[in-house]
Amino acid sequence: MRFHVLTLFPEMIDEAVTKSITGRAVTSGFIKVNTVNIRDHSACKHKKTDDYPYGGGAGMLMTAQPIYDAYMAIKEQIGTKKPRTIYLTPQGKLFDQKVATSLAAEDDLILLCGHYEGVDERVIEEITTDQISIGDYVLTGGELAALVVIDAVTRLLPGVLGNAESIEAESLSGFLLEQPQYTRPRSWQGKDVPEILLSGDHAKIIAWQKNEAIKRTKARRPDLYEKWKNLQ
Ligand code: ADE
Repeated sequence: MRFHVLTLFPEMIDEAVTKSITGRAVTSGFIKVNTVNIRDHSACKHKKTDDYPYGGGAGMLMTAQPIYDAYMAIKEQIGTKKPRTIYLTPQGKLFDQKVATSLAAEDDLILLCGHYEGVDERVIEEITTDQISIGDYVLTGGELAALVVIDAVTRLLPGVLGNAESIEAESLSGFLLEQPQYTRPRSWQGKDVPEILLSGDHAKIIAWQKNEAIKRTKARRPDLYEKWKNLQ
């Protein structure tokens, strides 16, 4: 899968995706991350990418031209008529596992990162197919949000996680949060690992884990718990 990121700060993306599991996914060829510097596509001789908003108001807006030209260059390169193009914005649809799963089915994904006070509405209308928010808070730019999307989508791609079971288990439990987990040592700071996990009784362990996941979900995320209960 190929991610094409339109941004004024390509190094933010390049630096982060080469680490950890996304880094491994890049090296093994499961994903390609193509960062495109919007500034490089500015037609103005000072390579300007922003301007004052019509009607006044605080701050600057990203202008349509460099974004559109950067987008057209990618579109031409991938040869898709209307590639899935996502604008990262707090005004978008809230990103969740379901959205991540739908994006993981694409071959190419274009991610547009805004900056300053926003982006000229006309270019958003012209090029985007989706608008996504990663949560109800305002970031200084879309780069961190794009990285969240890249990370969540990449781990869903077949082969990326090595252990296919870890995705399987999640999708089976649907909306449940994970149960608490423990590793060595058996006793730490006077706290012992729950006895049942050392019992070797696989069926009992599975039942305990499920029950803990249900308890935790009910206490911490009653909204998810209700969704899960309705599926039972
Ligand atoms: N850009 C600024 N804030 C954002 C958010 N919460 N989600 C996605 N993109 C953003």
